[in-house]
Amino acid sequence: MHIDVLTLFPEMFEGIFDLSIMKRAIDQKLVGIGLHNIRDYTHDKHHTADDYPYGGGAGMVLKPEPIFEAVESIEKKAGTPIILLSPQGRLFTQRVAQELASHSQLILICGHYEGVDERVREHLTSDEISIGDYVLSGGELAAMVVIDGVFRLVPGVLGSEASPLDDSHVGGLLEYPQYTRPPQYRGWPVPEVLLSGNHAQISRWRREQAIRRTLEQRPELLTRAELSSEEEHLVERLRQT
Ligand code: ADE
Repeated sequence: MHIDVLTLFPEMFEGIFDLSIMKRAIDQKLVGIGLHNIRDYTHDKHHTADDYPYGGGAGMVLKPEPIFEAVESIEKKAGTPIILLSPQGRLFTQRVAQELASHSQLILICGHYEGVDERVREHLTSDEISIGDYVLSGGELAAMVVIDGVFRLVPGVLGSEASPLDDSHVGGLLEYPQYTRPPQYRGWPVPEVLLSGNHAQISRWRREQAIRRTLEQRPELLTRAELSSEEEHLVERLRQT
């Protein structure tokens, strides 16, 4: 899986790929990153990438030409999504991460300043993604969130293939509580069932904990979670207590 990023600040991405899981995945060539400085595709002597908005108003707008030319310079596979990061996009969720991870290449465009010339959105991009209902000063942090969320789903990146299946939000529930040694810490014990070695009981306990936690922290998620009828009854009982 390869992700190309268009940005005015490629230095912001240094560091995140040099550590831990991402570094190993890149070294093993499971994933790759291409950083493209939008300013390299300007043609004037000041390398102008932004300009005043037509109609007036505060702030600057990213010009269309360098963004179009940068995208056109990238070698693309057919069907590669070209995604603008912006607060106006559709919300980035685990489902969207899975959908994006099914492509072998993505192109991410980081907006900046007050915005991006609308012709980029209309005639260049195929998708627009927001990482949440708040405004960042640029799309770079959002792109890093998307890259991390997508790359960890690429087979082999996490080491164990099973681990992304237990993540919070997979199947619509938050993750169950995890414990490791010691079995007693400051008088707080690890739940008995986890030490029992009874895998069926452990699975049932984890599922119930995931449901309880989701109901407590993010009850709105339960309307779309995949629950058995027994689990639906559990939710009803918990709601009444
Ligand atoms: N750029 C600025 N704010 C953003 C957000 N919330 N998501 C994606 N890109 C952004």
